[in-house]
Amino acid sequence: MSETKDVKALSPEEAADELERLSGLMAEADSAYYTDDAPVMSDAEYDALRARNAAIEEAFPQLVRADSPSVRIGAAPSSRFAKVRHAEPMLSLDNAFSDEDMGEFVARVRRFLGLSEDETVALTVEPKIDGLSANLRYESGRFVLGTTRGDGMVGEDITRNLATLDEIPKEIEGAPDVLEVRGEVYMTKPDFAAMNERLEKAGEKLFANPRNAAAGSLRQKDADITAERPLRFFAYGWGEVSEPLAETQRDWLERFAAMGFPVNDLTERTVTLEAALSHYRTIEEQRASLPYDIDGVVYKVDRLDWQRRLGTITRTPRWAIAHKFPAERAQTVLEAIDIQVGRTGALTPLARLTPVTVGGVVVSNATLHNQDEIERLDARVGDTVIVQRAGDVIPQIVEVLKDKRPKGSEAFVFPDHCPVCGAEAVREMNPRTGEPDVVRRCTGGLTCPAQAVERLKHFVSRRAMDIDGVGERQVEDWFRAHIVREPADLFTLQKRQEEETEVHGTSDLRRYRRKPATKTRGEVWTDEVTNATALANVYASIEAARTRPLDRLIFALGIRHVGEITGRLLARRYESAEGFVALGEALSAGDEAVREQLLDIDGIGETVADALAAFFHEDHNRAALARLLAEVDPAPLEAVSDEGPVAGKTVVFTGKLEKMTRDEAKARAVALGAKVSGSVSAKTDILVAGPGAGSKLKKAEELGVQVMSEDAWLETVGAA
Ligand code: IVH
Repeated sequence: MSETKDVKALSPEEAADELERLSGLMAEADSAYYTDDAPVMSDAEYDALRARNAAIEEAFPQLVRADSPSVRIGAAPSSRFAKVRHAEPMLSLDNAFSDEDMGEFVARVRRFLGLSEDETVALTVEPKIDGLSANLRYESGRFVLGTTRGDGMVGEDITRNLATLDEIPKEIEGAPDVLEVRGEVYMTKPDFAAMNERLEKAGEKLFANPRNAAAGSLRQKDADITAERPLRFFAYGWGEVSEPLAETQRDWLERFAAMGFPVNDLTERTVTLEAALSHYRTIEEQRASLPYDIDGVVYKVDRLDWQRRLGTITRTPRWAIAHKFPAERAQTVLEAIDIQVGRTGALTPLARLTPVTVGGVVVSNATLHNQDEIERLDARVGDTVIVQRAGDVIPQIVEVLKDKRPKGSEAFVFPDHCPVCGAEAVREMNPRTGEPDVVRRCTGGLTCPAQAVERLKHFVSRRAMDIDGVGERQVEDWFRAHIVREPADLFTLQKRQEEETEVHGTSDLRRYRRKPATKTRGEVWTDEVTNATALANVYASIEAARTRPLDRLIFALGIRHVGEITGRLLARRYESAEGFVALGEALSAGDEAVREQLLDIDGIGETVADALAAFFHEDHNRAALARLLAEVDPAPLEAVSDEGPVAGKTVVFTGKLEKMTRDEAKARAVALGAKVSGSVSAKTDILVAGPGAGSKLKKAEELGVQVMSEDAWLETVGAA
């Protein structure tokens, strides 16, 4: 398994797979965090993924993906609000985790600016507020537009929501013509607790922490709801301005304060590294008693002329860094170890804990990752353990206090059979490394209810078939009630209901199960679809999904190692669902010629070929796919031109694009038959370089690659 392998030991193929996996995981995490306000991993886990991605990219620069997480900030905006392109990108911050990292940051700044040792580098030290950033645009002193950060380039228009915050001035005196104020929207801890209490009394969904509460409150379609929520604001930066307000970071903040914006009073300007670190510690000591959550401090070079010279690297400024506080820990008792079964059959151990408060949040579950981790820790039921919570999601067990172990405890025996369906659970051998996979998997495939239901959830999810209105709970309910057991069932649901209604004169969905009633464990029907309108909407979105493009359909099948990108490659090459099925069947029959053809596709390796063969090897997968294909009519992929000026050429985009987003540029290039790559090599035909292009431009010039501006590119593709 390449997931835990040392980067140096990875083959290029494994590295490519691993980069795809990381990109997918991080995109999911981004979207969960930014779009759904429901994080799926801790900050520490996220940082670890990011670090691994960076290490692999450094070792295999030719494999850097066009959608690499290293060039992406946060998630694309959700579709509920109008999208607005930021006049200036909203950047994110690089992280320092130790005093040494911080020392290096200052050293880098000095080196970059060519400063001597005796020249002081003044920094502002500001608390890093754990909320969400917003951009407030004022024209002639009037608040005209408020946006979320979105993906850093394009945010969402939440003007009406932001206008409900008392702490955001609607008019300011003495402002330049255009002034964009940036800062953090947050909720205080006491306000959060009181609000949750109110929600609980009203029987509504509670928020996990103040950050999620702030995000959920701000991004309400109905601004009247936002108005009732106790949101606050701290200003810490700016976007477009027609006239600078000051020459230093600190003076800007002072001007903001004078204009009526709240500015955090723990902000301080320091002139030595020691003073900066000492202020960090002062803030850390106050952390628990502050009325709002912070997760570190931000250091910024105070002089703006220096900030300008330092500039930014892709997504983060060179002139600022976040110094994170260490993760919070607490001691508790491990009461049980449950095994959960995921979409691909992975058995994941989940620790059930005596509830304990870690950094203000009650924790009762933690992850134990996998079998090796349990063995490494020798975690046993009854043990006293240390849980760590970094960020605000799935905490982990980091230590077992052996001296507190009760007498007679027994080592945990990891099951070798699936706890849900009873099929054998195995750790596959990786044929290339000869080592067993870290993950033990249920071999039950679709006959395992846990896998089947997880695959259904994946099938309906936003990035797969995007069946709006059918959420995870809905899928679980339908599955349990035998109403929907596999993807095809979604598409026959309406017909089955209508038939049942005719026969029985009732529209009780529980009646039109897919098969004659077998066992009906805990049948439930969620209120969400008990009313006819809601149900009509669900049917409408199911109908719309019948014509989702083939690449999404392939991705939606949930075949291991077949992510969105691979789905697209397969859809392009095999063109139709029939073509794809023919491929799968040939692979599972061991057709070497077909396998070779598949491996010829740039971006597809042995792992994907093996996974496809394994999927089609299972009769129940083939049968379920056939039933599904009888119901859907996938739209052809957007045509890829095989003529025209850029067809077949390899194109790289670098620097800032001014007329389109990166994603737009790439999508258009691909539609015109070009191949988009993330790095410049001898194979590159065209480098499109915008302002701020750096090493890629240099390399292209060295290699004699054709370089053009964004305008020249648009002219070439006939879109100027
Ligand atoms: S400066 C160019 N200052 O942290 C730098 N950000 O990881 C842009 N944040 O999106 C941000 N407190 O949501 C800055 N004093 C502070 C901050 C702060 C909280 C958040 C902000 C930003 C994220 C960056």
